[in-house]
Amino acid sequence: MINKKVVLVVGSLNMDLVVSAQRLPQKGETIFGKSFATFPGGKGANQAVAAGKLGANVSMVGCIGSDSFADELLVSLKLNHVYPDFMRKVDCSTGTALITVDDAGANTIVVVSGANGECKPLDVDKALANLAEPGILLIQNEIPLETVEYAIRAAKVRGWLVIFNPAPARQIDNSLMPLVDIIIPNETEISLLTDGPANTQEDIVVAAQKLLDWGVKNIIVTMGEKGALCCNKLGVKQIKAYQVDPVDTTAAGDAYTGALATSLAEGKTLLESMDFAAAAAGLSVTKQGAQPSLPYRSDVEKFMKQQEREV
Ligand code: RIB
Repeated sequence: MINKKVVLVVGSLNMDLVVSAQRLPQKGETIFGKSFATFPGGKGANQAVAAGKLGANVSMVGCIGSDSFADELLVSLKLNHVYPDFMRKVDCSTGTALITVDDAGANTIVVVSGANGECKPLDVDKALANLAEPGILLIQNEIPLETVEYAIRAAKVRGWLVIFNPAPARQIDNSLMPLVDIIIPNETEISLLTDGPANTQEDIVVAAQKLLDWGVKNIIVTMGEKGALCCNKLGVKQIKAYQVDPVDTTAAGDAYTGALATSLAEGKTLLESMDFAAAAAGLSVTKQGAQPSLPYRSDVEKFMKQQEREV
């Protein structure tokens, strides 16, 4: 029996309204789509569900509205083993995301925050006060900045490991950086955070070095099919992506982050956890939708066995 740390996700929940189309529309253009579907999503909820499906002991702090989307999102959390007691219902509409996915699996996303805008420091306090043992805080950028910054500070003071996925890209207070144990940006996000280019691997290493200098302990830059780059005081290490045929890349970053936290909560090393996360993210892009595409533990283990690669 593994002694697992708690994973606490503080973040957003959205109902994803997803259109698939041959290609993404240009500015000012109307195109025909091929299909429409709704899926439970939101970066916070996706990461919580990713961890729940992989067997983590996971709780979520977040806000939903008072509409039918809220009920569907709660059901998805519960079905996927996410402890929902720190969730709060507020008197407005649930967050939504308008997503277009093209034939290559690439997407554009517009988020309307709704209830996510009501997630407050007090919600974080309630959860931290109830969870006695320090665990792993997993936080993104899709709730008010004030709450993101508060959660990072409050968790760190109580001895939690802080994993920050700065998505969507927004500027944050640099004084938070020394409190972050692991930051997981993609290329766009690290470029915005460090105010520099991230077009080549050399650019990315320079940007990651800036974050290290600002006090972040580990930087993992996710680069899609090029894998992920880990930079810390030990140096730079690239972990390759698992090769798959992409259907929909929505929530691949969330699969990665949720899986990484799950593996670290079980006491695995950072590099082992990056490999596990790469496999979970790879599998997630082979299916449509956000939460329905997130893989179960048995699928990830089988997939890794089939691929048999060395880290
Ligand atoms: O990361 C994917 C998620 O981003 C979607 O589920 C959507 O809700 C947006 O938050």
